[in-house]
Amino acid sequence: MTTLQEKLNETTTYMKKAGVKEVEFGLILGSGLGELADEIEDAVVLQYHEIPHFPISTVVGHAGKLVYGTLSGKKVLAMQGRFHYYEGHSMQTVTYPVRVMAALQAHSVIVTNACGGVNHDFTPGDLMLITDQINYMGANPLIGTNEDELGPRFPDMSQAYDASYQAVAHKVAQEKGLHLQEGVYMAFSGPTYETPAEIRFARTIGADAVGMSTVPEVIVAVHSGLRVLGVSCITNLAAGMQKELNHEEVVETTQRVKQEFKSLIKETLAAL
Ligand code: HPA
Repeated sequence: MTTLQEKLNETTTYMKKAGVKEVEFGLILGSGLGELADEIEDAVVLQYHEIPHFPISTVVGHAGKLVYGTLSGKKVLAMQGRFHYYEGHSMQTVTYPVRVMAALQAHSVIVTNACGGVNHDFTPGDLMLITDQINYMGANPLIGTNEDELGPRFPDMSQAYDASYQAVAHKVAQEKGLHLQEGVYMAFSGPTYETPAEIRFARTIGADAVGMSTVPEVIVAVHSGLRVLGVSCITNLAAGMQKELNHEEVVETTQRVKQEFKSLIKETLAAL
């Protein structure tokens, strides 16, 4: 049987031959933020389908490519388009790109997403620094045999999101005059949006925002020893807090705030 480590070796060997060198930061660009990859200098662009063992994305609006190069003076490997559990991928597949980032010696990952606001103080268009997460997806990417060379059997999730990175992001936001919310991100499997009852439950147990991604990737990042910064775009109020939910509104809001979102990420990256 091929181990995960063996698959990773094949993937990274291919990527290195294609021109990918040392990586400092992995970037996972969620809905609306993919454009950031177009700003990467001296870019090496790899289509997902050409990379051995790499999954292929099926969601409209999520291009499928990895872009390596320099952004804000840092060596980055950016995913333009991520993999979701609701697409039918296994949790291991969803998180494979994070394994690849770690295998290429990245020390940190920046994760972004679009999500619904649960906290009554949030407004669509707000950006939220993720301080912690709740895994309500009903699955965990680390279930199964643990490959000890990749990380520990029982990872500590006490500080999944790096506190000093959060402080840097807050400082950058303050300097920009940008109001940066913060809160706990709770992941549901999707693809249905939540029900109003589920949102009341989410709020009761401590969630500030809900979405369908990020949590698996952050679990694997922690398992791999990566430092994590997470930023969400609140694209809508969660179910029961506004009349109805639809994907068009999510896309519209990400388009509306993308300049602000991109500049927050770039300036924070420069300061990390
Ligand atoms: N729920 C789940 N995922 C989402 C939402 C939401 O309200 N908005 C954007 N992604």
